[in-house]
Amino acid sequence: MTSSLNGKTVIVIGGSSGIGAAVAKAAADRGAQVVLAGRRLSSGSENGLRSEPVDVTDAASLQRLFEAVGRFDHLIYTSGPSVRAKNLIETDLNEAQDNFNVKLWGSLRAIQLALPYLDEHGSITLTSGQLGRKLAPGQFIKTGINAATEALGKQLAKELAPRRVNVVSPGVIDTPAYAGLAEEQRLAMFAKAGGALPVGRVGQAEEVAAGYVLAMENGFMTGAVIDIDGGGLL
Ligand SMILES: NC(=O)c1ccc[n+]([C@@H]2O[C@H](COP(=O)([O-])OP(=O)(O)OC[C@H]3O[C@@H](n4cnc5c(N)ncnc54)[C@H](OP(=O)(O)O)[C@@H]3O)[C@@H](O)[C@H]2O)c1
Repeated sequence: MTSSLNGKTVIVIGGSSGIGAAVAKAAADRGAQVVLAGRRLSSGSENGLRSEPVDVTDAASLQRLFEAVGRFDHLIYTSGPSVRAKNLIETDLNEAQDNFNVKLWGSLRAIQLALPYLDEHGSITLTSGQLGRKLAPGQFIKTGINAATEALGKQLAKELAPRRVNVVSPGVIDTPAYAGLAEEQRLAMFAKAGGALPVGRVGQAEEVAAGYVLAMENGFMTGAVIDIDGGGLL
């Protein structure tokens, strides 16, 4: 069967790493023309896919990205900051604000600037995370960003119709997001987090990418939050 992504143009903001890179590969494998975007990329190609630089904290940079690509079909947003878990009382709120600026405000900035170029039969898929609903001390930044992202996904599904808007909520996924940890520490953390899940392991970026493909391809899906977390919210 021909994929409904065949010949479609997909922009992956955050496509330079981890989950975004896996979504880009999955979409390209289904025949989409993919544009990867991230700060570390330049105009050219990366792993055989078109690449463009973008910093989501900078509206002018996002505007340049959408102007360079022109009309497109699906917007994927996976950009996220590296957040240090800390209690509210110990947190520099300017740092917290910077984190919100990348993931929450960055996605709103991207959507606003993308709309003139996004096909009205197209879709937007945002990224939250299980901490939006799984509450843990020291995680108020991720909880706030992810809960707000899920609420906005649903609200925008109504406001931006007929464009569809969905959110993918990953659990613990083995990506470069954890590259700051020493290997031994990282493997121990994955073993502990994975061991507590019904599936007995943490997830892979390719498994989460399948959720974004579903959100792009399924024309009846909008306002959904797709949990791909190995049962982490149970
Ligand atoms: N991995 C997990 O366990 C997990 C769990 C729950 C939720 N999530 C969410 O999933 C999403 C992807 O995470 P990941 O695990 O794939 O992490 P990752 O490999 O570290 O990727 C993060 C991405 O964010 C981009 N980014 C960061 N700041 C940016 C900026 N100012 N402008 C443009 N792009 C920016 C990075 O690109 P550049 O460096 O090129 O700018 C990179 O592509 C994030 O929203 C994260 O919160 C991940």
